[in-house]
Amino acid sequence: MRKIGVLISGRGTNLQAIIDACNDGRIPDTKVALVVSDNPGAYGLERAKQAGIPTRVVLRDDFESRKAFDMAVADALDETGVELVCLAGFMRILSKAFVRRYHGRCLNIHPALLPSFPGLDGQKQAWDYGAKISGCTVHYVDEGCDTGPIILQRPVAVDEGCTVDELAAKILREEHIAYPEAIKLHFAGRLKIDGRRVTVKPE
Ligand code: GRF
Repeated sequence: MRKIGVLISGRGTNLQAIIDACNDGRIPDTKVALVVSDNPGAYGLERAKQAGIPTRVVLRDDFESRKAFDMAVADALDETGVELVCLAGFMRILSKAFVRRYHGRCLNIHPALLPSFPGLDGQKQAWDYGAKISGCTVHYVDEGCDTGPIILQRPVAVDEGCTVDELAAKILREEHIAYPEAIKLHFAGRLKIDGRRVTVKPE
């Protein structure tokens, strides 16, 4: 069994999608072995407990620097034997030291078609801008904010007259498909990173 660590700060619907995909075999021979949250009130922690997955809360305020916080998170992941780190609504930018430690084995999901609308509230940024198409992006994490090599994207149409909440819900449904798919491709050894470009090798 390969082990994934998932970092969250909130409701954890992407975490749930990953757990479900491990359980039903869409991501074969893999389990979520640890969920780390920087927020003790994150509902995702409940989801993990219900699925029998160990959890760890690491509070930023308990550490003097961002790097020290990140290294505590990394130590927890390594102690568990995690091979792949998945950021799923983790609301912190990770330090260079963390990103280097998990180079090529840390993924993030973003609720817009990068490089458009990086940072906070990607759905609202696209909606405010009047974009006709948005979507979600799964990418490897690099030292920038939402700048790492793109693994896959799923587009959605921004329907005429839709609210930002309706758009966000539509994007979220695609996120729940995209994240498990990207993890499956990663573990199948089908992703080749070449500079900015990620090539998906055929089965
Ligand atoms: C998602 O929209 C994800 O793209 C973004 O944060 C949100 C997390 O949602 N990075 P959830 O906690 O997985 O429900």
